[in-house]
Amino acid sequence: MNFEIESRAGAYAVTVERGGLGALGRLIAALRRGAPSGLLLLSDDNVEPLHGAAARRALGELAARAGTIRIAPGEAAKTVATLECVCRRLAAAGLDRRALLVALGGGVVSDLAGCAAAVYQRGIDWIAVPTSLLAQVDAAIGGKTGVDLPEGKNLVGAFHPPRAVLIDPDLLATLPAAEWQNGLAEVIKYAVLGAPDLFQQLAAADLERLRGDAERTRALVERCAALKGAICSADERDQGARLALNLGHTFGHALEAATGYVAFSHGAAVAVGLVAEADLAARLGLAQPALAKEIAALCARYGLPVRAPGVDVQRVRSFLAADKKRVGAAVRFTLPLRLGEVRVVEVEQVDAVTAALEGLARA
Ligand SMILES: NC(=O)c1ccc[n+]([C@@H]2O[C@H](COP(=O)([O-])OP(=O)(O)OC[C@H]3O[C@@H](n4cnc5c(N)ncnc54)[C@H](O)[C@@H]3O)[C@@H](O)[C@H]2O)c1
Ligand SMILES: [Zn+2]
Repeated sequence: MNFEIESRAGAYAVTVERGGLGALGRLIAALRRGAPSGLLLLSDDNVEPLHGAAARRALGELAARAGTIRIAPGEAAKTVATLECVCRRLAAAGLDRRALLVALGGGVVSDLAGCAAAVYQRGIDWIAVPTSLLAQVDAAIGGKTGVDLPEGKNLVGAFHPPRAVLIDPDLLATLPAAEWQNGLAEVIKYAVLGAPDLFQQLAAADLERLRGDAERTRALVERCAALKGAICSADERDQGARLALNLGHTFGHALEAATGYVAFSHGAAVAVGLVAEADLAARLGLAQPALAKEIAALCARYGLPVRAPGVDVQRVRSFLAADKKRVGAAVRFTLPLRLGEVRVVEVEQVDAVTAALEGLARA
């Protein structure tokens, strides 16, 4: 499947295809009238040994002129220091403004590659080849790029969409189960915010069945990538429709931050956030109480937590108050009304938020 995403920098195509990595060289040739003046493949120490050789093979003739950079895996490498390293490698290889950067990896690699591509020589082209479920359904789509500072995540970055996104769901065959779960929290988020049928499909499967079924995986990735693509096409810069994607993330981010980013993976925090936000919606009379139960059951089915027993409620609340989504005294949430429908709500009712937080902390 192919679809286009609109952006101020021009539309770009997303391709979802099993075995699609093999078409990387042809994709580059089709994108560019002339071959790129140079090419660098950016990956990490987990992904490059698994898929780097296939990616270079797929580059065909271009491979001879392609260098490779490997970064350490994980969020700890998403720094300004790594960004500098990547830019210096581009410079040392003598790459000019017609060079191309190819990101082969999870969201850390695509955020970093996009950010380097945004700033190196004031902007070069890049292509995303996402390899984690989270990157295939979320991070590689939409043009947000960036790195972290000690003061906070994604504080340095730019909107710099890739020229193309090449999604090969077969690359997920090597993805560890915990990383599948991370991505599935976002998949459940999409199901709640805009795909009730997907919600039902997920409720009829489980993690092992999904991982073992490449066709089902492809369909799932395609659906979610298209959903995110449509939302980003409608609202590239977070002004309206894109706020729907914050579902589960207002409580989720506060929980992650309050627990020092170690107790909960991002996916786990989002799962807890989805349930707590459905609970908050019910307390505000915006949703039926059954919705939170239904979402919790689906998260639990995929091994995701639905509560954070014993978590320091005051601490989570202080991170909520510091959230950039805060407007005056109110906190802005994207709340689920029913499966397939969300609403952005500025919540001023402190009692309801407190009750939802206390529910989240219960054993
Ligand atoms: N730009 C955006 O719009 C956006 C959206 C969501 C998330 N993000 C960012 O994405 C990052 C998280 O992405 P992520 O979860 O992919 O993290 P990640 O890049 O750290 O990948 C997770 C782990 O899986 C490994 N991995 C990836 N693909 C693999 C494969 N096919 N086989 C084996 N191992 C594989 C990686 O080496 C890493 O250890 C965060 O930094 C987040 O801020 C960005
Ligand atoms: Zn997320």
